[in-house]
Amino acid sequence: MDFIEWGYEYSLDVPEIDSQHKKLVDQLNDTIKHCTGKKADERLFFDNNMRKTIDFLKCHFETEEKILHKTKYENFNKHKIEHKKILEELIKMNDDIEKNKVELDLFYVTTFIKERVTKHIKIYDLSAKKYFIEGNEIK
Ligand SMILES: [Fe+2]
Ligand SMILES: [Fe+2]
Repeated sequence: MDFIEWGYEYSLDVPEIDSQHKKLVDQLNDTIKHCTGKKADERLFFDNNMRKTIDFLKCHFETEEKILHKTKYENFNKHKIEHKKILEELIKMNDDIEKNKVELDLFYVTTFIKERVTKHIKIYDLSAKKYFIEGNEIK
């Protein structure tokens, strides 16, 4: 069984967004497989992937904001601030680990991202579903 099971309940019915969410879930499911407890291996995996994940997330949030901005979505600013908050948290966590201020615990990192991302999708993205669909149709 996967760490995160992807299902239709997460779908926004916008293929571009759904495939980005699915990619994030796949990355987290892959990361969990690298939580072996072998410190050097975990660190290597982290160094090779964490920045890429943050960049991908940044790009994902921009995609969402571009679509939502075309609509009258009432929570646009709140949603955008929430994106910013998640990125700041992940950048801080990454910096602390890269600079060895905090020891890497890959399982903790993975769980942390999972919590933040799935909660965000459920609370913010899904509640804006009709605006995502509407915005996606506006050229
Ligand atoms: Fe999202
Ligand atoms: Fe979002």
